[in-house]
Amino acid sequence: MKMRTIETGNLEETQKLGEQLGSHAEENMVFLMKGIIGAGKTTMTQGIARGMGVRKTVSSPTFTIQKIYHGTSMDLYHIDAYRLEGIEQDLGFEDDFENGGLTVIEWSEFFPGILPEEYLAIEIRPTGDTAREIVLEAHGAAYEALLEEIQ
Ligand SMILES: Nc1ncnc2c1ncn2[C@@H]1O[C@H](COP(=O)(O)OP(=O)(O)OP(=O)(O)O)[C@@H](O)[C@H]1O
Ligand SMILES: [Mg+2]
Repeated sequence: MKMRTIETGNLEETQKLGEQLGSHAEENMVFLMKGIIGAGKTTMTQGIARGMGVRKTVSSPTFTIQKIYHGTSMDLYHIDAYRLEGIEQDLGFEDDFENGGLTVIEWSEFFPGILPEEYLAIEIRPTGDTAREIVLEAHGAAYEALLEEIQ
């Protein structure tokens, strides 16, 4: 397992990091995001989307659970599992992991389905008003290669 810790000082820097990940993401990849309310998960996903060539502005999918955005070469499946806490039922979301696109899950600890064996874990920790410590953990060779692309 390969790990990188990156500090950002404002939301733009977090989005830039997301943009790098989005631009190098490959089809069927899964990013699992953790971090308290307001940590910056959706903000970072906005950058990921931009890196994928999504033109629409990504907004929080809390009430819809999942939103799909069309990128240049693949789609972004943006899931927010916050409202799924405690739900044991299999909602069939994992079908999406082989959707030919990139799946990003906020509040992945509350995701009720089976998570993939290989994924990129993204944990965003607020360390100040606008300062964040972002821990990237690559689980699987493709994700380790992805981390190498990050500057
Ligand atoms: N360095 C930073 N990185 C990301 N967001 C930042 C940063 N500094 C300040 N912010 C602000 O923090 C907030 C992050 O909100 P965001 O909706 O992205 O959080 P979230 O983790 O998705 O929360 P939720 O759990 O409610 O979905 C935004 O208002 C953003 O402008
Ligand atoms: Mg959010």
